[in-house]
Amino acid sequence: MKNFKVAILGCGTVGGGTAKILRSREAGYFAAPGIKLELARILDKFPDAASARHGLPRELFAGAGAELSAEALEAETRAILDDPSIDLVVETIGGTSEGLLATMLAVLGAGKHLVTANKAMLAAHNGRIFAAAAENSRAVGFEAAVCGAIPVIKGINECMTGDEITSVSGIMNGTSNYILSNMTRKGLSFAEALKGAQAKGYAEADPTLDINGGDAGHKLLILLKIVFGIEAKVGDFPVLGIDAITADDTGFAREVGAVIKLICHARRENEGVYATVRPMLVREGNVLSDIDGATNAVSLTGANSRGNVFIGQGAGSLETGSAIVSDIVFIARYGRDAMREYPAGGIPLLDFDGHEMPYAVIFDTEDVPGVTGIVTTAIGAEAINIDTVSHNLRAEDTPGALWAITTKPCTMAQIKRAVDSVKRSTPRAFLAEPKIIPILH
Ligand code: HSE
Repeated sequence: MKNFKVAILGCGTVGGGTAKILRSREAGYFAAPGIKLELARILDKFPDAASARHGLPRELFAGAGAELSAEALEAETRAILDDPSIDLVVETIGGTSEGLLATMLAVLGAGKHLVTANKAMLAAHNGRIFAAAAENSRAVGFEAAVCGAIPVIKGINECMTGDEITSVSGIMNGTSNYILSNMTRKGLSFAEALKGAQAKGYAEADPTLDINGGDAGHKLLILLKIVFGIEAKVGDFPVLGIDAITADDTGFAREVGAVIKLICHARRENEGVYATVRPMLVREGNVLSDIDGATNAVSLTGANSRGNVFIGQGAGSLETGSAIVSDIVFIARYGRDAMREYPAGGIPLLDFDGHEMPYAVIFDTEDVPGVTGIVTTAIGAEAINIDTVSHNLRAEDTPGALWAITTKPCTMAQIKRAVDSVKRSTPRAFLAEPKIIPILH
């Protein structure tokens, strides 16, 4: 019987959940015939507090005292790297510092496998990390980095390898989905819904990356690599958040039988891949329209399978820990072979403005005769086919008119040109910048 020894760096929410699952199963659980998982060491800056918080034995934690100094943390990290009996290191520290990247590369350089939940680091440096894994014949597990407990990475790498995935659409950030769900279902404003998410513990004290789409963008960037072989960098495709969405917008969506969701979207066309993260209208009947609260969902369309939808918990201690432990088990069984190679596919990312989709456009205009005519004439002049035109959505005693159209498939570029043409011909027509929101189809 070989013990497959694991060390965990960082015992916060996810590291703690991982440790608890490993402890609960290590006595009786065999990863594979002849292999037994063993949680050998945990390193955390605050070992006393982490041990108490997660109910883990203090002796599992490296270092003495309530708080480890920077020197002690470095020495204990080195001790783990130098310990030949440790087979795999879990990184659940988070962040994208150069120091942490160096540690992750050093784990692989020391001949140990690496499992990480760090989507921001993988978004920034997956090329270097995967190259170090290849050089050292070790594996990197990152199931937990994309949608927590949901087996989307293994679903793509192992279960859908017989398919050609043509599109990915998903709700990949639970915090923003919780906020949008409450705006839709309860008619709350963005600020009220955000406060509720923070009170429930979904949103971080600093929820910037959840709200501005950054966290979802990191996940889509990782999926672009494993689905399409695209080496994207943050900023290579447009990422918008949910902070500009109002109760009026969610109300309008309801009127056309849809809900607004923060959607990660990538679609392969002949010449390349369109990718974006942004609020989209999702019509009732599309499974993503029913994904409420902090739940995540990833819908993959395949040329052969036609498609699969993965739904589950994208965050949480035991939830995300379960994905990390699955990676550990997989790597204990298969070693380097647990990891796929990700050759660059040579497919370019395309300018999202050229992607044909149906759109909703929400206009805030002067409330004067002929204004809808001016706007819809400009839309028609761009050969955009209008599907529906709403009534004035604004309360009677409030100045201005809030109204919206939906279109048949057209491009964002066409709509922007129409809007620019109205601005030139009738500079006072718009009281605010029109909101151009794709409709997922
Ligand atoms: N903060 C993320 C979410 C989970 O709200 O879904 C970690 O990426």
